[in-house]
Amino acid sequence: MTEQGVHIQDLVMRYGEEVVLNVASLDLGAHEKYAIIGPNGAGKTTLLRILAGTLKQSEGTVDIPSGWTVGYLPQHPFVFNMSVFRNVEMAVQDAGLSRSEREKRVNEALEIVGMLDLVSARGTELSGGQAQRVTLARVFAQHHDLLLLDEPTSAMDIKGTIIVEDALKRYLDQYQATLVVCTHAPSQAQRVSNKIIVLEEGRIAEQGPTVDVLQNPQSEMVQEFLSYWRL
Ligand SMILES: Nc1ncnc2c1ncn2[C@@H]1O[C@H](COP(=O)(O)OP(=O)(O)OP(=O)(O)O)[C@@H](O)[C@H]1O
Ligand SMILES: [Mg+2]
Repeated sequence: MTEQGVHIQDLVMRYGEEVVLNVASLDLGAHEKYAIIGPNGAGKTTLLRILAGTLKQSEGTVDIPSGWTVGYLPQHPFVFNMSVFRNVEMAVQDAGLSRSEREKRVNEALEIVGMLDLVSARGTELSGGQAQRVTLARVFAQHHDLLLLDEPTSAMDIKGTIIVEDALKRYLDQYQATLVVCTHAPSQAQRVSNKIIVLEEGRIAEQGPTVDVLQNPQSEMVQEFLSYWRL
């Protein structure tokens, strides 16, 4: 029997009269890696926030298997005016860990995002890409079943992007986690996902194995969207 994953049914999100998300049915299988792509305003963040529980949908249901823990990286990184170490440690403050275990977790998470050398720097004095890495280290310091990452490398240079993507792959393998990542870059979807969902104006325009959709998009909209993508 396949392990149960996330099930979305008749999902609608409205702001006033405007429908920004309308997903009749969507299943996200356990241990799969999903990328959500689509133009600005397509509804990627809205869908991710509903999955994360930080936004309540207007209609429909989102079922996440009971017992799954969820890690969420918002689109805009946030850091506090305290050391990089403390910024990450706060994520594992209530995890029931000993102090040394906590320190180990924080240092490991900072190492995998390439930020260990800035462990004592103040959060508010970081560059945009560094702040994004610290925000991501908070997610990596915890061991989640479902990772929801919204444009996790949008502020990073290509080297930082590859470091983080490799760390992500190791994390997913190690904890057998399920991934949903929003990205503007089809190239990132190609590197980190095995399934892709293309959103357009709040609806699923196309979905399927990442290689199939990227190499052989069926709908005109997705063909046009991908035509701007050049490696
Ligand atoms: N708080 C809000 N009030 C009204 N409309 C909103 C609100 N938040 C989002 N929207 C609208 O919902 C739509 C989807 O926004 P969303 O942020 O999900 O898009 P996105 O696909 O993540 O875009 P981007 O690629 O720019 O991150 C947009 O048209 C946006 O203007
Ligand atoms: Mg967004």
